[in-house]
Amino acid sequence: MQLEARLQEGITAHRSGNLEAALAAYKDVLTDNPDHPDGLHFLGLLHFDAGKPENAIILIRKSLEQNPKNAAACNNLGNILKLSDRSDEALEAYVRAVEIEPRHQEAWKNISVMLEGATNNDDLLPILREIVRLDPDNANAWHNFGLSLMLAGHREEAADALERCLEFGAEAWSDPVWHARVLCALGRQERAVEHLEAVVAADPDNKVARYQLAAVRGDELDQAPEDYVREHFDGFSDSFDDVLKNLDYRAPELVAGEVVKLAALRAAPFRDIVDLGCGTGLCGPLIRRYCDKLTGIDLSPGMLRKAAALNVYDFLVEGELVGFLTSDLPTHFDLAVCVDTLCYLGNLQPFMEALCSALAPGGILIASVEHLDDPSGPDYRVDPTGRYAHTPAYLRRSAEAAGLDYTKEKTVVLRRELGKDVHGLIFELRKPDSDDR
Ligand SMILES: C[S@@+](CC[C@H](N)C(=O)[O-])C[C@H]1O[C@@H](n2cnc3c(N)ncnc32)[C@H](O)[C@@H]1O
Repeated sequence: MQLEARLQEGITAHRSGNLEAALAAYKDVLTDNPDHPDGLHFLGLLHFDAGKPENAIILIRKSLEQNPKNAAACNNLGNILKLSDRSDEALEAYVRAVEIEPRHQEAWKNISVMLEGATNNDDLLPILREIVRLDPDNANAWHNFGLSLMLAGHREEAADALERCLEFGAEAWSDPVWHARVLCALGRQERAVEHLEAVVAADPDNKVARYQLAAVRGDELDQAPEDYVREHFDGFSDSFDDVLKNLDYRAPELVAGEVVKLAALRAAPFRDIVDLGCGTGLCGPLIRRYCDKLTGIDLSPGMLRKAAALNVYDFLVEGELVGFLTSDLPTHFDLAVCVDTLCYLGNLQPFMEALCSALAPGGILIASVEHLDDPSGPDYRVDPTGRYAHTPAYLRRSAEAAGLDYTKEKTVVLRRELGKDVHGLIFELRKPDSDDR
């Protein structure tokens, strides 16, 4: 009993940030009983907090040897393994957590994030199949089972599982449109529209659902509405970096790679770079050293807060990028980057004109877009995810119509989504020097 009280003292001190007192208490517990499972687990967490993840992993694994039925310890172990870039082991630990405790919300959420970026889950599928069989009312289990089936290429069975998810009601999900979006990708538009209409009817202010519905129906839309973008990314800002890392998101590195090449050709750094739709600032640290001043602009305050924490931007502006570029700016930029943001604009003409007015003569844009590889179709198309893809011919035409030169383009893979590569283009535009005109 005394031992349990001492452990509790340690946990209380740990939670209040008094790591020394916590360490003393955990040591007392483990001196008395070196195999105390909770003592080992919490000492492991303490090591993690002290920046020693390897020790933490060893201690929590030891704790699990003593008490293999501790789902929370499995989930914590998964988190530490994931942060240590040991994804396969992390996924294993999360799955163990839900095998022990099938309603462990956190572990299910973690599995879902890992699966969205996974390419292969052959080992996992039978386990998830068994969990939904044993616990058929488990919404999270169905969600991950659906994801897992999709990754394994079982589209019809995956769509059935996702339809099953819809039956739990929109309120069961933190993102009530996700399943509808994926059902579209699996060819079940009708069910997706029905669901989205129900979400909009129940919550007419739900901007995300309204836009998603319009995108799925194929309504004529020139761009994603600002309130949709703001709400979507504010809700996504905390997990953005983590989720995108899992999707092998390369767009910032690819754009920054082009900036590095341009910088190598110059005697001096760029004077003024603007990062259009900077988001959480993934590109900022990669290009900071190549400029005197770095400005970031984004619609989402949540994303901007993350970017601010990096301390690499001299200025961060909350606003819409076309409006920003056409405002009375104190400077003209010699370089603009725009990473994975033009996919929220369909019609690029206003953007191209605004860009041309904001670039200094000789100024350059390096940007990424999703590649619409259909020269005989429309210039751009919004897909059921609410993201636009553009044809290279349209990029050139809209740039040239605004007085910009289309100087470079290359095809790339931007990231993975639901087990497939997302193909994109990195392109470069230049505003002619005054002498060239
Ligand atoms: C997919 S994120 C990419 C963020 C960042 N560039 C990166 O690569 O990590 C798209 C970002 O563009 C912003 N955004 C979309 N449309 C915008 C607009 N019209 N004006 C300003 N920001 C916009 C969103 O708020 C979001 O932060």
